[in-house]
Amino acid sequence: MKFFIDSADVNEISEIASTGLIDGVTTNPSLIAKSGRNFIEVVKEICDIVDGPVSAEVIATDAETMIVEGNKLSKIADNVTIKVPLTWEGLKACKNLSVEGIMVNVTLCFNANQALLAAKAGATFISPFIGRLDDMGLDGMELIEEIRTIYDNYENLETEILAASIRSVNHVRQAALIGADVATVPGKVLKELAKHPLTDKGLDAFMKDWEGTGQSIL
Ligand code: E4P
Repeated sequence: MKFFIDSADVNEISEIASTGLIDGVTTNPSLIAKSGRNFIEVVKEICDIVDGPVSAEVIATDAETMIVEGNKLSKIADNVTIKVPLTWEGLKACKNLSVEGIMVNVTLCFNANQALLAAKAGATFISPFIGRLDDMGLDGMELIEEIRTIYDNYENLETEILAASIRSVNHVRQAALIGADVATVPGKVLKELAKHPLTDKGLDAFMKDWEGTGQSIL
């Protein structure tokens, strides 16, 4: 499973990417607004830090302007992936951009038929939003399961499932069990993936016992 970091905070991305555990980045207009910085500059800096796909989202709602914006954003760096919304216009833009060889991430996916259309439109990634479905009392993970089944039913559908709107370590575990290709995860949740109280307890005990030996490795 690939891990993307869901962030537009260059310092956070740089710190977490230094582990070598990050395969890409997703941004969105809300994350850019939160950063308080210039969109193009931020995307450029992120692309200098991370080699893998870096999603940058279009703002237009009509296909024609989305394509113009997508072409402009794709010139920032070779690893820019154009994010378009899962609307009829977004699908048209996806088809056009993907035919030009530009990676496209179709975002704001909330049902399996939408995911099927995105794959038909040549999307590199489909982003089902787990957390936002859970927020409505629905089961976001069920959607990942349905998309996995549909994509596996047809060899010609090569779109990768990018589990998005991840809010907890449990979301990551479940998405991995189902076989999502990628999870885009906030930095805080990524760090929590390494934690277990028994790991801390065990390490404390090892350190105490080691102290008693009076030895040192270096
Ligand atoms: C994904 O590409 C989105 O940026 C993100 O996962 C949205 O998450 P949220 O629902 O927590 O805002």
